[in-house]
Amino acid sequence: MPYSNSPVFIPAQRVENYHYAIRNIVSNARHLEKQGKKVTYLNIGDPILYGFQPPEELVESTVLALRQGHNGYSPSCGKNDAVEAIAANAHSRGISTSPEDIIVTFGASEAADLVCTAMLNPGDEVLCPSPGYPLYNAIIAKLNAREVQYRLDPENNWHPDPDEIASKISSRTKILVVINPNNPTGELYPPELLRELVEIARRYRLLIITDEVYHKLVYDEKHIPLASMAEDDVAIITIDSFSKNYMAPGWRTGWLAITNSRLIPDVRLAFIKLADARLCAPTAPQHAIKAAMNLRKDYIQNVMKRLKAQREVTVNMFNDIPGISCNNPKGAFYVMGKVDLDILPFKTDEEFVLKLLQEKQILFVHGSGFGTDPGQGFFRVVFLPDTTTLKKVYNDLDDFVRQYQ
Ligand SMILES: Cc1ncc(COP(=O)(O)O)c(C=O)c1O
Repeated sequence: MPYSNSPVFIPAQRVENYHYAIRNIVSNARHLEKQGKKVTYLNIGDPILYGFQPPEELVESTVLALRQGHNGYSPSCGKNDAVEAIAANAHSRGISTSPEDIIVTFGASEAADLVCTAMLNPGDEVLCPSPGYPLYNAIIAKLNAREVQYRLDPENNWHPDPDEIASKISSRTKILVVINPNNPTGELYPPELLRELVEIARRYRLLIITDEVYHKLVYDEKHIPLASMAEDDVAIITIDSFSKNYMAPGWRTGWLAITNSRLIPDVRLAFIKLADARLCAPTAPQHAIKAAMNLRKDYIQNVMKRLKAQREVTVNMFNDIPGISCNNPKGAFYVMGKVDLDILPFKTDEEFVLKLLQEKQILFVHGSGFGTDPGQGFFRVVFLPDTTTLKKVYNDLDDFVRQYQ
């Protein structure tokens, strides 16, 4: 048998269920680029690709740390001043936690992985939003646990229905995942809804992971941390990171904060065990955490001014194109577009996205990559490029759609 065909080199089964549409679809775009075509990428939420940069003082602190020789490992749960600053900032936003309940991680992604790995045995169930950010299904698939989807309703601002969530709970359900502001929908949850979600967790003894990596990026309403709604009888893990709120995704630095850790002492120790085993998160960016927790207001105001203009162009132009519509997101930098498949000759969301890529070299991600039904015609748009670029893209989309009418 040739070396390359040896059964030793067959990927493990757990990877079969691993999908990440945001990046998987890029291979189609790369193929076009090889033919000399220029693709506009509106598929990935990386602010740096579109001219955003982290706050200068964070860059300075990180560079200084490197220059001063802070190139070793840090404590596995994070530098002391970093976890203290994160806990103090959490407190100021109504989240009850302590420096001992913070773990600095390789981005929010590792925080999610760490919590799920510490909590889930094969067959255990996790309630996840659908559509939802594909990180969670990938981690759950890797652990041979089971993702149980709860629906976000496009007719109701993409909010979940707490009764539906409760109806899907079984004796194996361990975790309820909430993403707020949401990716891919850009929606923000009101306090009554958050309260109901906490109540479900209390009633059915679930742990909540609340992914709040976009909490600073809100347009008209204030973000309310889910953990600030909790009394002392529900365990909540709040996940945050440098990637979006501070526009530094390449630093791979995030953190988790436990609220009511006394309810989950063994799980907390399991988190620490896992954190010890992978040594530490990147050290240099941890030197910027204190500055991040005391960020000047004008940084985020400027970011939001730009994002607001881009949101407005997106929502106005989309809803002017016959057969295309979208929601008006309240947070993050995504909209869920919808192509009317009764009017336009595409069978699925993916067919629409791939045809648009082929003909106009514009890359969106099909909604089914996040869990919507392919026949519903949803697709996610990242509106990070400047308004000039966006206007050109949406005019091309308009031309594309009109030729089919
Ligand atoms: C909801 C959500 N959670 C987590 C992440 C990953 O964050 P990080 O880069 O900090 O790992 C993303 C990235 O797009 C996201 O949208």
